Amino acid sequence: MKRKLIAGNWKMNGSLSANAALVQAILSGLSQRAAHCDTAVCVPSPYLAQVQGLLAGSGVSLGAQDVSAHEGGAYTGEVSAAMLKDFAVRYCLVGHSERRSYHHETDALVAIKAQMALAQGLTPVVCVGETLAEREANQTEAVVKRQLAAVIHAVGHCVSELVVAYEPVWAIGTGKTASPEQAQQVHAVLRAQLQAASGHADRIRILYGGSMNAANAAQLLSQPDIDGGLIGGAALKPADFLTIIAAA
Ligand code: PGA
Repeated sequence: MKRKLIAGNWKMNGSLSANAALVQAILSGLSQRAAHCDTAVCVPSPYLAQVQGLLAGSGVSLGAQDVSAHEGGAYTGEVSAAMLKDFAVRYCLVGHSERRSYHHETDALVAIKAQMALAQGLTPVVCVGETLAEREANQTEAVVKRQLAAVIHAVGHCVSELVVAYEPVWAIGTGKTASPEQAQQVHAVLRAQLQAASGHADRIRILYGGSMNAANAAQLLSQPDIDGGLIGGAALKPADFLTIIAAA
């Protein structure tokens, strides 16, 4: 059976002192009770070195929140996959809805980012999800399949090295969570698509994200096709993050 993955997405939050306190609290919680799942924190780029140091030897993996679609060169402000690898980054979010909406990232660009991450041996966490308007127009399946298809097409035989995160846009940071049934339904669709592409989708982890918290995690994580969580707000609260890890 594959291990679940609980990944925190800190977004643009943190400071040297806040990060140290947060990581210390998480590690001390984990030392009291071994985690039965894989865990990671996806931190803002300037703090990669700091958090790499804080996590050393802990078993909690380091993640990044984005990666450049370019290998290197004159791309002011960008961070390459090779640079992330220098800091022992293991996971890299690609196509988070905040990147898609505020930075106009297209399916094609997200696919290239996933390729870049894979080329450096990082695991891309490919985020897909529909807006409220798309859900209300019954387009949820079509939207998430289109988003995932672009990445599947680009990465070819590496599909089984992906992690996928289903994050309904209307549930992110809103306190509105998809019901376990709603989430499971979409996860099953994504699983079938991954199965068709890879032949062994049972090995690929599909995370749920969108207001997952200490109170609703257990129910979501008990669904057959939910293999973990991508946690925003609750990942900044050590007690809540630890409760979610325990639920997994
Ligand atoms: P949230 O964010 O848990 O705060 O809804 C999840 C995410 O954006 O990855």
